[in-house]
Order: sequence, then structure tokens, then C-alpha cells
Amino acid sequence: GIVVSTLLRDTGMVTVDPGFMNTASCESQITYIDGDEGILRYRGYPIDQLAEHSTFLEVAYLLIHGELPTREEHDAFVERVNRHTLVHEDFRTFMGTFPRNGHPMAVMSSAINALSTFYPESLDPFDPETVELATVLILAKTRTITSYLHRTSRGEPLLYPDYSRGYVEDFLRMTFAVPYMQYESDPIVVNALEKLLILHADHEQNCSTSTVRIVGSSHANLYASVAAGINALSGPLHGGANEAVLKMLDEIKANGGDATDFMRRVKDKEDGVRLMGFGHRVYKNYDPRAAIVKQSADAVLSALGKNDELLDIAMRLEEIALNDEYFISRKLYPNVDFYTGLIYKAMGFSDSMFTPLFALGRMPGWIAQWREMMSDPQTKIGRPRQIYTGATERDYQDLSTR
Ligand code: ACO
Repeated sequence: GIVVSTLLRDTGMVTVDPGFMNTASCESQITYIDGDEGILRYRGYPIDQLAEHSTFLEVAYLLIHGELPTREEHDAFVERVNRHTLVHEDFRTFMGTFPRNGHPMAVMSSAINALSTFYPESLDPFDPETVELATVLILAKTRTITSYLHRTSRGEPLLYPDYSRGYVEDFLRMTFAVPYMQYESDPIVVNALEKLLILHADHEQNCSTSTVRIVGSSHANLYASVAAGINALSGPLHGGANEAVLKMLDEIKANGGDATDFMRRVKDKEDGVRLMGFGHRVYKNYDPRAAIVKQSADAVLSALGKNDELLDIAMRLEEIALNDEYFISRKLYPNVDFYTGLIYKAMGFSDSMFTPLFALGRMPGWIAQWREMMSDPQTKIGRPRQIYTGATERDYQDLSTR
């Protein structure tokens, strides 16, 4: 890589690296990415194997604890998480106090941050049992909070968890069930969501994960750290891209569905328009997650009988991009967000819920990275330097003389 510029200071060498393109902030054993080859592994396991065979909670355990659980460890972990999915009644009230049209990402980060006030016994970042308790509480409550985001935005009553169902299945029930009515889950939908959450579960030192680590490096507790991660994720250049993709596809459809003309605008950089869901800081090849999501999109949409015109537009955009010099020379391929929104929409989620679903999936990664950092004796408070380019020393002038 190229270091953008360096300055020799009396404190040593200071490197200016905007966007941290060439700066490693830590050593980590959690996630491996080879951006040129399009490889992603969690703790050494290829992402496609985990997406095919594992479950979200098993992957969460793997990321956080480093190994796949034994049957006994698995059952105990799943049982413990499920048992904590109920939230305090006051917390349910709190969830209902936000304006209905407020973006759910803002509600989500506030809610996760506020959780710490309900569980003061789980805040010590250096006691292993306390950290494990906070881990379980956050994984469990985030699931409930995410379903409440959907329901409160519609003014619908909030449902209680059903411990006998799986994590993902009960999340869907709590989100979509009609109160007092029997809810039959669709195994194709449960399976697809399980896969999507696994694909989002970690991605090494991206913007939100780096945020979680830097907040935690001040010894802020796990809730405060992951709440900060949710805020970082909300931007359209990061997790917010899945919502932005749908907005883009809707606009193309509304303008007559002309993918070619839209791509002309992207290539001309007209009004700074970008092909959302394309390009990645690390992947300079097809994002391995996008390949799995694309298959899933096809399967879910046809199983649900939703032949979405937006999927056709997305596929046309991809086809144009894969054969166009602008995208080829810049190594721009679909990223994980390009097709996810279409699946979430087919499942019944509104656009503003797409990024909270990303956050639900990313939670195990944030927790694993925070825990790895906290237990690393080399960790120091994150404190980058700068190259000062402002005014040199000058004397204060009284207001009357300015
Ligand atoms: N559409 C059109 N052109 C693009 C796109 C795009 N999506 N992405 C990058 N480019 C172009 C840039 O204009 C630039 O061209 P230039 O060399 O002529 O100036 C070149 O490709 C390099 O782009 P950068 O912005 O320098 O790349 P960077 O690594 O900083 O950005 C990012 C990566 C933010 C993901 C970018 O590709 C982008 O904005 N994509 C769209 C948003 C998106 O999908 N984000 C989700 C990322 S994945 C995730 O967070 C889960």
C-alpha cells in the first residue's frame, strides 16, 4: 500500500492516511478477508459453509468464543439467549415514546444505549462473567428491540417472546404476527433471514466496528460501544446503503425503468450519483456475500411469488456494470447490500428497517471485536494524531477592536 504522507516529529513519525486506507488499527483473530480474491472467513471457516450449514446464534458463538460450540455449549448458549429476550415493561414503554416517523436506526442506538441503565450489574468491562452476561443480554434484547422498531413505527402492539421458537423464527413472529392469532412461520423465510444475519455478522475493521473499538478503548461499557457502532452503521456509505439501493431502484422504476440511462448518469458522475450497493473499500472482486445474497433473492422472491420488477432492474444494472469499462477499471462489483433490500422488502419489512436488520446481524461481530480488544494487554486508548494546518500563534483581540 501507499502511505499518503508522513511527517517526522519530535514524538516520532506521524502518518497521514485519510480514510485509514493503509492503517491497521489492531491485530485480530476473528475475521479474514482477501479483497482481491473475494474471500471471507470467520475464525477460519469459509462464509459460504457457515451460511449453508450454520445458524445465526451458532455463528455468534463462534465469533465471540473463537470455536464452534459443542452440542452442550450450543444448547446452553441458545437457551440462555432465548431466556433473556423478554424486556422490562418500562423498556417497552420507553420504546413507544419515540415519534413514529423517526428513523428506526436512531431509536435502535438510543434503545441499546439505554439498556445499560436497566442492567447496571453487567457493566464491568474486565470481569469475564459480567462481560458474558452483557453479551447474552445484548444479543437477546437486540432481537426484541428490532421487532419493536417495526411495530412501533406502525403503532402496532408489542408482542412478548415465545421461548419455544428459534431466535430467527421468533423474531419474525414478534415482528409480523397479529396479536392473539396463530402464527405459522415460513421455513424459506426463516432460513433466508438466518443466512442474511450470518453474512452480516462480522467484517473486520469496517467503519462501525472501528467505532465500537475506539469507543471501547476508553473503557466505555459494551452497550455504549455497540450503540456508537449502530450510529456509524446508519450512514448511506455503510449500512445505510441497503436502504439507499431500494430508493435508487424505486427512482429508476418511477422514471420508466431505464437502467442504461441511469448508468450513464453514474459514469458521468451527474449530481454525484453513485450506483448504490456497488464498490467496496476492501473487495476489489465480487463480494462473496453478494453472490450468496443474490441466489437467496432469487429463491425467496420466487417462493413468495413476488416477481419484483425492482429485482429485474437490479440484475440489469449489475449486467451493465460487469461489462462496462468504468466499473471494470475501478473494480466495482456488487457488495452485500445490493440485493439484501429486495429480500427484506419481499419478507414484509419497510425500507427504513433494512439497516436495523444489518445492525441485528452485525451485533455478534461488534461484541466479539470489543471483547478481543478488551482482553488484549496491548490495547491502548484510541487516539490518532493530526497534522495541524491552522493559524500560527496570534494574540487575542478584544471584541470592540474586531
Ligand atoms: N458508483 C459509482 N462510482 C463509484 C462507486 C459507486 N458505487 N464506488 C466507487 N466509485 C468510483 C469513485 O467515484 C472513484 O472514481 P474516480 O477514481 O473516478 O474518482 C473510484 O470508484 C474509487 O471510489 P472511492 O470512493 O475512492 O472508494 P472508497 O473505497 O473510498 O469507497 C465505498 C468505498 C464507500 C463503498 C464506495 O464504493 C461507495 O460509495 N459505494 C456505494 C455505497 C455502498 O454501497 N456502500 C456499502 C459498502 S458495503 C457495507 O458497508 C456493508
